[in-house]
Amino acid sequence: MASDTPTLILGIETTCDETAAAVVERRADGSGRILSNIVRSQIAEHAPFGGVVPEIAARAHVDMLDGIIRAAMQEAGIGFDALDGVAAAAGPGLIGGVIVGLTTAKAIALVHDTPLIAVNHLEAHALTPRLTAPLAFPYCLFLASGGHTQIVAVLGVGDYVRLGTTVDDAMGEAFDKVAKMLDLPYPGGPQVEREAAEGDPARFAFPRPMMGRPDANFSLSGLKTAVRNEAARLQPMEPQDIRDLCAGFQAAVLDVVTDRIEAGLRMFAAQFGPPQALVAAGGVAANRAIRDALQDIAKRAQTPLIVPPPALCTDNGAMIAWAGAERLALGLVDTMDSAPRARWRLDEHGETPAKFANTRARH
Ligand code: KG4
Ligand code: ZN
Repeated sequence: MASDTPTLILGIETTCDETAAAVVERRADGSGRILSNIVRSQIAEHAPFGGVVPEIAARAHVDMLDGIIRAAMQEAGIGFDALDGVAAAAGPGLIGGVIVGLTTAKAIALVHDTPLIAVNHLEAHALTPRLTAPLAFPYCLFLASGGHTQIVAVLGVGDYVRLGTTVDDAMGEAFDKVAKMLDLPYPGGPQVEREAAEGDPARFAFPRPMMGRPDANFSLSGLKTAVRNEAARLQPMEPQDIRDLCAGFQAAVLDVVTDRIEAGLRMFAAQFGPPQALVAAGGVAANRAIRDALQDIAKRAQTPLIVPPPALCTDNGAMIAWAGAERLALGLVDTMDSAPRARWRLDEHGETPAKFANTRARH
């Protein structure tokens, strides 16, 4: 493939509760264009349980994926033979869903004789900002979703250093659990944000775990438990109690986010010099109050804040296709024996991209 021709990549995402497929074009100058991006959320299936049920998710992916891929190809207006590669999220995530997506991608790669790219879902979140805006390495990523809360130095494609992570609950998970204990519907993040907007953030003095520590780690389960204890004490609750609990919880999260990211940025600067930007991704980045806090942090750090559009912050196929395109451009492709992984640290290899390719299937 000549290096100056655009590449067309199909991306498949099935690691959690979204069944998604997309076709993305990457041009030789490194810019990208989304030709289609179909996401089918399973929220309705999981809502009665207040969280994602792995078996239900895997079955729904099996039922939906073929149709979603067909729709993505149709909307892009191309046939499978026009593809330069097919990328699937090979982890980390719920293993049943990962198997469905990766196996489907392998079948397409085999039948249409096109390269397979087994993408780390976290890497896809990390690289997606480069799909919609020119953004050079290195940059500092804050990734906060239902499954992950991390601060990562993104140094290049395949070159990541994790600066901080949660030692217990993910941030989105904490929002979801607080919503559940207050009888708010799933997913809880948007509900808690809505209630918080009309609550008094000062009524409850909730803990701010990890604040002031020199590392950039998070801990959210103590905060969640404090909300639970207060909610139990208030029974039966009035609507205003719920609003105040949400406001108090969100205020604590905002303080923690600010303190932890500022610690992460200090670590970044000490090791890699000034970042090109602070970048946020994951469902929690949809929270307006958190976005405002990030804007303040970036301003103080004198670095631009880049937050991809909400549809690209939450799980989708375009981010997988884009990460696949970025890897393919460096010749990083995978073999048919690449394994699906429930766990897969973004920086576990710690090697250069070239070496990284050869160690892909290793656990
Ligand atoms: O990235 P995402 O769509 O899926 C993964 O978990 O990978 O993130 C979903 C998470 C859920 O936990 C949801 O409650 C949270 O993001 N979330 C929010 C908001 N919108 C979604 N959390 C806080 N405030 C929000 N507005
Ligand atoms: Zn995600």
